[in-house]
Amino acid sequence: MMNRFISLTSTALLAQLAWTSPNHRNIIRTIDLSLPSTPAPGRQVVDAAYQSFSIEFCYMADYAGDNTNSNKFSRQVIQNLHDISGAYPIFRIGGSTQNSAVYFPNQTDIAIIDPFDSEASDQPSHSYIGPRFMESFGQFPEGTRYIYGLNFFKPENETLFDVGDGLGQCVLEAHAAYTALGESLYAFEIGNEVNSWAGGSRRPANWTQQDYVDQWNQYATATSQNLTGRESMQLFQGCAYTAPRNVGDNMTIWNIEHAEEDGMRSNKAKTVSDHDYMGANCDYTGAGPTIETSLFDRTNMLSRVRYHDYLGNATENSGIEYVLGETNSISCQGAFNISDVMASAVWAVDYVLYLSSLKVSRVHFHMGTRYRYSPWQPIYYNDTEAHVKPIYYGNMFNAAVFAGGDKQTEVLANETNFGAYAVYNKGKPESIVAVNLNMWNSTMDAADRPYTALSLPGAWNEARVSRLTNPGVDTAANITFAGQYVDSEGRIVGEKSFDKVIDGTVHVGAGEAVLNSK
Ligand SMILES: *[C@@H]1O[C@H](CO)[C@@H](O)[C@H](O)[C@H]1NC(C)=O
Ligand SMILES: *[C@@H]1O[C@H](CO)[C@@H](O)[C@H](O)[C@H]1NC(C)=O
Ligand SMILES: *[C@@H]1O[C@H](CO)[C@@H](O)[C@H](O)[C@H]1NC(C)=O
Ligand SMILES: *[C@@H]1O[C@H](CO)[C@@H](O)[C@H](O)[C@H]1NC(C)=O
Ligand SMILES: *[C@@H]1O[C@H](CO)[C@@H](O)[C@H](O)[C@H]1NC(C)=O
Ligand SMILES: *[C@@H]1O[C@H](CO)[C@@H](O)[C@H](O)[C@H]1NC(C)=O
Ligand SMILES: *[C@@H]1O[C@H](CO)[C@@H](O)[C@H](O)[C@H]1NC(C)=O
Ligand SMILES: *[C@@H]1O[C@H](CO)[C@@H](O)[C@H](O)[C@H]1NC(C)=O
Ligand SMILES: *[C@@H]1O[C@H](CO)[C@@H](O)[C@H](O)[C@H]1NC(C)=O
Ligand SMILES: *[C@@H]1O[C@H](CO)[C@@H](O)[C@H](O)[C@H]1NC(C)=O
Ligand SMILES: *[C@@H]1O[C@H](CO)[C@@H](O)[C@H](O)[C@H]1NC(C)=O
Repeated sequence: MMNRFISLTSTALLAQLAWTSPNHRNIIRTIDLSLPSTPAPGRQVVDAAYQSFSIEFCYMADYAGDNTNSNKFSRQVIQNLHDISGAYPIFRIGGSTQNSAVYFPNQTDIAIIDPFDSEASDQPSHSYIGPRFMESFGQFPEGTRYIYGLNFFKPENETLFDVGDGLGQCVLEAHAAYTALGESLYAFEIGNEVNSWAGGSRRPANWTQQDYVDQWNQYATATSQNLTGRESMQLFQGCAYTAPRNVGDNMTIWNIEHAEEDGMRSNKAKTVSDHDYMGANCDYTGAGPTIETSLFDRTNMLSRVRYHDYLGNATENSGIEYVLGETNSISCQGAFNISDVMASAVWAVDYVLYLSSLKVSRVHFHMGTRYRYSPWQPIYYNDTEAHVKPIYYGNMFNAAVFAGGDKQTEVLANETNFGAYAVYNKGKPESIVAVNLNMWNSTMDAADRPYTALSLPGAWNEARVSRLTNPGVDTAANITFAGQYVDSEGRIVGEKSFDKVIDGTVHVGAGEAVLNSK
């Protein structure tokens, strides 16, 4: 797949060169980039919090702490992103554990009771939360906003956890969250991934999307009435569906387009959300995805993103924004040596830049204390202190791209292993991002690392080049972005260093990403 904005000028294999300084790099090809002077008409405009996050419900107390033990590490790494982009990311607190969370007003001593079956379990069997759970939402830097994931038990006679009055339980939880969060509440979700519920323990086999939308409206109305006395408030993020893999006219297909047609309207829905991942690690049997077949295969990424392109288009005029409300590398909490190494950081840049060119208005990267794909681990766990993980560097890169907001993205190169983008600020070209998704392992001889030379238009001769790099995509070691790294306290440290455009050219190594800013 080639793109109209690039052309190949030379392909010289210089593998024998034994140096990686700019003059001695192993340049295997050159790409001439030219960019449109303005974004295409109708291109979406995104804000500085485009790259946002999602925390698994049961892990919120780990990530944030409470009034007596605030999580300083999380505060620091969130503040870093604000320092870079000028905005706090929006945090969605939800996931499958939101469905098994029950609120008890009388559980006054402890924020959350969440038993795990074993040390290897990623999630507890259920979560009982009390008023102190809400203290967590006061710990991140002031100005951080949240999407709170409410439970969605059956309206009456709910046998799960002896809930009984499921509608009352949802309103009870909403009331506690609304009171505690105040202005920091961005939206509520009602249930997680409900499109896979029919026939399970939560809803009967004949439960349809129309039934869901009717019930969602019933719960949203009851909540609105309880909180404000009004029939409807535009305070909800609808759907929170699993990855869409089916679009088209058949109304029995569960997707956000049909949910809106079934009666999910902008009087209540502020946003609708889908989830997605680049592969799965569920019921792992030893053979699973690899870096090459998942994150470093843009054909794979684009085949999944195509559904979001379609659905964003289809709901463009509904008055309800479409968001990727939960995403990351590999589903079922990530895969070791894919989700927790440099490959995930490089992929995250390409993925988010591509999504920003579509009608997907925000992207939330998911995390949990025990998860392989988390941008950071928030507390001491499995013999390790709180620390950032490689993908966090991709998040930092993206925060830099969208800094200040008012951005539009055009795709310049769209190959199986290479993506390039022009980013516009208020309609004017501001940066060029290039991501090289060819494999490069730390076990190889650095002198052989293949580079692609990007030939930029003359106006970019003075551009400042911020490089995301490390010795190889198979390791978490020694990652830097513009020469800096994140220390054990979560602070960005080291001297900032930028590369220059030399003779109109910037080199991008296999497994690297660069941000060229005017
Ligand atoms: C809280 O109330 C529930 C009933 O809603 C009861 O089953 C439970 O024992 C009470 N817990 C405490 C700690 O009092
Ligand atoms: C934590 O340790 C347990 C037990 O050794 C293991 O099963 C699990 O995969 C580890 N989790 C992480 C994220 O390292
Ligand atoms: C719930 O249980 C009550 C009492 O057994 C019964 O009258 C009512 O019809 C049940 N409701 C539903 C929706 O099953
Ligand atoms: C809203 O719900 C809470 C919790 O169930 C209850 O205490 C409160 O009285 C309700 N308020 C209104 C106005 O219905
Ligand atoms: C759906 O299934 C439930 C039992 O699981 C039954 O009570 C109900 O009547 C069914 N609804 C329809 C519309 O068939
Ligand atoms: C719509 O999809 C359902 C399965 O989801 C299928 O049973 C039905 O035949 C389809 N209807 C049409 C008109 O294609
Ligand atoms: C990028 O390539 C994919 C095919 O892999 C295609 O579906 C998509 O439309 C292309 N995007 C652009 C902006 O050219
Ligand atoms: C979405 O709309 C854009 C612009 O109109 C169009 O180029 C693109 O092909 C559409 N995507 C899909 C999947 O239909
Ligand atoms: C991850 O890769 C390292 C280095 O290659 C290896 O030692 C380790 O066993 C791998 N971990 C898993 C869970 O495969
Ligand atoms: C890089 O290492 C991975 C394992 O981490 C391996 O599967 C892959 O084959 C290696 N790639 C190359 C190009 O050597
Ligand atoms: C990371 O850097 C340290 C210190 O320079 C070095 O000892 C180590 O070998 C490097 N790790 C890798 C995977 O290159």
